[in-house]
Amino acid sequence: MTEEHLGQEPAPLHPGWLPPEIDQTKPHPARMYDYMLGGKNHFEVDREAAEVVIKAAPTARAMVRENRAFLGRAVRHLAEAGITQFLDIGTGLPGEGNTGEVARAIHPEARVAYVDYDPIVAVHSRALLAGDESRTAVVLADVREPKSILDHPQVRDLLDFDQPIAVLMVALLHFVAHDEDVPAIVAAFREALAPGSALVISHGTDGGHPEVSAAARKGWDKAKSQVVVRDRAEIIAMFGDFELVEPGVVQLPQWRPDGPVREDWETIWLDGGVAFKR
Ligand SMILES: C[S@@+](CC[C@H](N)C(=O)[O-])C[C@H]1O[C@@H](n2cnc3c(N)ncnc32)[C@H](O)[C@@H]1O
Repeated sequence: MTEEHLGQEPAPLHPGWLPPEIDQTKPHPARMYDYMLGGKNHFEVDREAAEVVIKAAPTARAMVRENRAFLGRAVRHLAEAGITQFLDIGTGLPGEGNTGEVARAIHPEARVAYVDYDPIVAVHSRALLAGDESRTAVVLADVREPKSILDHPQVRDLLDFDQPIAVLMVALLHFVAHDEDVPAIVAAFREALAPGSALVISHGTDGGHPEVSAAARKGWDKAKSQVVVRDRAEIIAMFGDFELVEPGVVQLPQWRPDGPVREDWETIWLDGGVAFKR
């Protein structure tokens, strides 16, 4: 598999010949996200649910694009800092600007394990990444069970946990409900990493507009997972004793912008940051 293949949009879905594990009865976060990004891999249920979000929060598509851009800047920052191993949890459907593409522009040998709980992500990613097993693994697993990821044979075969690894949880943890122990989930990953490793998190907030946010989140009511928001203090706490790089946890357009920052950056209700284990 070549870099060109990795950067390509996945082929559109053809419901008639999808594997049976692909659930078309309820919206799935990965497919709603793909729809909002302008991709081709979604069903009617996903589009309807995404439109509920967009109607309530007109900058929803911009939030998704800003999130993807943050992921790119964060991965580039880490690759430039010398990191060559990435554990990308909650990967989403592979598309332009995926983790491997960004990292390999700097380190062609960079290794990336992609993890998602949605079988459609595994189906697409495996098809796109076939033949690239020396640099890539695609794992179907749930972040709520850290051991299922940290002890997964494919993850262990690909990544050397004695060397720095960047763990990405980008637009992932707001799909983990309030009654789950998110601090313990993230701590399990932090503890498994060697010094020099890094953690990247972006997470939805209510942007100071709880009613609009609640109306937008209704779009996920019938989805595979619902969206919950957390505040900045909770998001900062997820980094534990890791050292945040400047400017810390901020609204995503404000995180090390590589061009002019959109004037309406305050309407992007996602906070994020990058931190290193020293
Ligand atoms: C909004 S997409 C983000 C995609 C990508 N990280 C990005 O930021 O561009 C969220 C992804 O997290 C996945 N996801 C949600 N809950 C998960 C869980 N408990 N375990 C693993 N993946 C999960 C979804 O299937 C989806 O692909």
